Amino acid sequence: MGRKKITVVGAGNVGATVAELAALKELGDVVLVDIVEGLPQGKALDMNQMAPIERYDALVTGANSYAETANSDVVVITSGSPRKPGMSRDDLVDINQKIVSSVTAEVAKYSPNAILVIVANPLDAMCTVAHRVSGFPRHRVIGMAGILDSARMRFFLADALKVSVENITAFVLGGHGDTMVPLPRYSTCAGIPIPELLSAEKIEAIVDRTRNGGAEIVKILGTSAWYAPASAAVEMVEAILKDKKKIVPCAALLEGEYGINGLFVGVPVKLGSEGIEQIIEINLTADERAALQKSAAAVQELVNMLK
Ligand code: NAI
Ligand code: 2OP
Repeated sequence: MGRKKITVVGAGNVGATVAELAALKELGDVVLVDIVEGLPQGKALDMNQMAPIERYDALVTGANSYAETANSDVVVITSGSPRKPGMSRDDLVDINQKIVSSVTAEVAKYSPNAILVIVANPLDAMCTVAHRVSGFPRHRVIGMAGILDSARMRFFLADALKVSVENITAFVLGGHGDTMVPLPRYSTCAGIPIPELLSAEKIEAIVDRTRNGGAEIVKILGTSAWYAPASAAVEMVEAILKDKKKIVPCAALLEGEYGINGLFVGVPVKLGSEGIEQIIEINLTADERAALQKSAAAVQELVNMLK
């Protein structure tokens, strides 16, 4: 029984931070892959030299090819271009489809039993690409977005209520785009539903800020976020590798659930060693259901743009 093996493709902002957090948490050995020569190797060596200080035993290896990734348990795909100011996630379809497609083919060849965690944008469409190219069953292709979007909402709620972030849960469903569906009714502070604690106007402002959470950072920073995105991806890796049976919002291929068929859309799922072990269907009001359908339609538009 050696350690678990995690491959992270893309050694940029998100990928390198995923590798760092996975190593810090001793989730397994990490192989960091990028097309840029020296980049993953240099970052890997730097992270290994952090290990004695931070006291973790997890080896990070940098690579520009896939032989080193063989037999990974989990593969996180972050390779792709991030959004630049003024660019929508959708603008990325063309560029990132090519990257995700070629990367997935390599990953699937060397790690046919791995669970894929997709991060590259536009997220829901890139999940479709990875699912099609890998030929993996749907429970082994999972998109990261809902944990990030709900973490943003949790931070905004904690800030508004002046309470610990640990007291707040939040639920965000739908695609990872402007049509995402934050659900205040299913969001709580110490178990108390948010609508009992904040005015409708305050909630609406937080919902709106959550929907635009990615764009807000792009505007300030000039490129897209990576700390919270990496943290969200690592929560998924941890739930899978430790077989935690953790219920979190992730992009999953729906086959009739929520009345949606053949699309990756963010819904609550149970994550464990098999990947998605259950898709959880919660009751939605007519308005919430309509918002989810609208979000699914936006995902469908992106999928229609795939070549
Ligand atoms: P970045 O530009 O810092 O890193 C991307 C890395 O991918 C670069 O190092 C690049 O050399 C590498 N790369 C490009 N083509 C490759 C290939 N064929 N094989 C291997 N590596 C390749 O970008 P960042 O900030 O890390 O973002 C990565 C992706 O994640 C973007 O598409 C971004 O939009 C997305 N993202 C998604 C989030 C989500 O919620 N799902 C949140 C944050 C970012
Ligand atoms: C985000 O939400 C850009 O999808 C990325 O930060």
